[in-house]
Amino acid sequence: MKNLLITGGAGFIGANFVHYLLSHHDYRVVVFDKLTYAGNLNSLKDITNDRRYAFVHGDICDAEMVEQTIRQHDIDTIVNFAAETHVDRSILDPDAFIQTDVYGTYVLLEAVRKFGLQRYHQVSTDEVYGHIPAGHRSRESDQVAPRSPYAASKTGGDLLVRAYYTTYNLPVTISRGSNNVGPYQYPEKVVPLFTTNALDDQPLPVYGDGRQMRDYQYVLDHCEAIDLILHKGEIGEIYNIGTGTEIENLEMVQIILDTLKKSPNLIKHVTDRPGHDRRYALDIAKIKSLGWQPRHTPQEAIRLTVQWYLENEWWWRPVKEGDFQEYYQQQYGERLATEP
Ligand code: NAD
Ligand code: DAU
Repeated sequence: MKNLLITGGAGFIGANFVHYLLSHHDYRVVVFDKLTYAGNLNSLKDITNDRRYAFVHGDICDAEMVEQTIRQHDIDTIVNFAAETHVDRSILDPDAFIQTDVYGTYVLLEAVRKFGLQRYHQVSTDEVYGHIPAGHRSRESDQVAPRSPYAASKTGGDLLVRAYYTTYNLPVTISRGSNNVGPYQYPEKVVPLFTTNALDDQPLPVYGDGRQMRDYQYVLDHCEAIDLILHKGEIGEIYNIGTGTEIENLEMVQIILDTLKKSPNLIKHVTDRPGHDRRYALDIAKIKSLGWQPRHTPQEAIRLTVQWYLENEWWWRPVKEGDFQEYYQQQYGERLATEP
């Protein structure tokens, strides 16, 4: 492993992964990113002059561009972070999700096959397991049961990766992560949205009763686990990555408010997300058996994230202007104006 193609490397987890790689290894890292609304070169600003880093503006659905980049940079490994990732947007308009998360994955797998690459890693999500009732934790061998267009698209990607392993013996691995929080997350996701809203004394739109459960993990813990899978993971295997503990959204909101010393009066319960999965919960024994364990609890991860947004207004303030405002209005305008 020498020359890595990090697709979606200008997004939240991808950018953190690029930082992680450059500070732990001496690989050449090529970011390949379409720069959708979620891609942000400011997240990679500090490494622009690193001689080990290059950026390519491209779409993973564009086979020619993918192949040209592999040839030009002598790529031996692909880690695929590129995706449409926001559940609410997938409910508003699923098209791009099916394109990128399913067809884009197919394009990358074909390229791995054609060039005989050493490794392909698919970054997936715990949402493929669907809603998990109390008393159960998802294991990698569980049936997939996605319930949103986003989750279904990611599941489609996972199934293709598995099929390419079975049919063509491609050297693949898959990781399924829980909710990530940390630096550089687009403020449509709940923790940065609520943090930046609270900083501006704007309402925090909690969906439904707010008692849904999520395993909020620190993004660099997730990156460390992906790196470990690349080095020690078994080909053809799936690995769950999370803290293994989940908290209610109302607790997450309270941590944000307490950290910022803001009033609970900012909380506004609004109409729930259609088909909202109430609980995700991962069994993380398999990734732990490779020698990894989370360094942060969900509570610590959320506090660290709030602190980062408090100190990095230069990054999020411009993001919340422009197109974001249009999305916010569409997603929340009516919800915030009416009682649920
Ligand atoms: P993000 O939305 O912050 O970033 C996605 C990146 O992909 C952006 O830079 C975007 O420009 C790029 N992209 C989108 N379509 C593309 C295309 N067709 N070609 C090339 N680039 C394209 O996403 P994220 O939160 O960093 O998630 C990264 C990956 O991790 C995704 O596959 C997601 O499903 C998965 N994941 C995310 C979480 C989470 O909590 N955020 C948890 C588990 C798994
Ligand atoms: O579980 C992993 C997944 O986590 C990733 O695969 C997705 O890419 C990522 O977006 C995330 O999905 P969620 O839907 O769980 O994340 P989101 O931040 O959108 O919402 C987290 C919880 O907060 C969820 O229960 C819905 C709730 N929520 C969210 C928003 C945006 C609210 O109550 N209000 C909101 O305004």
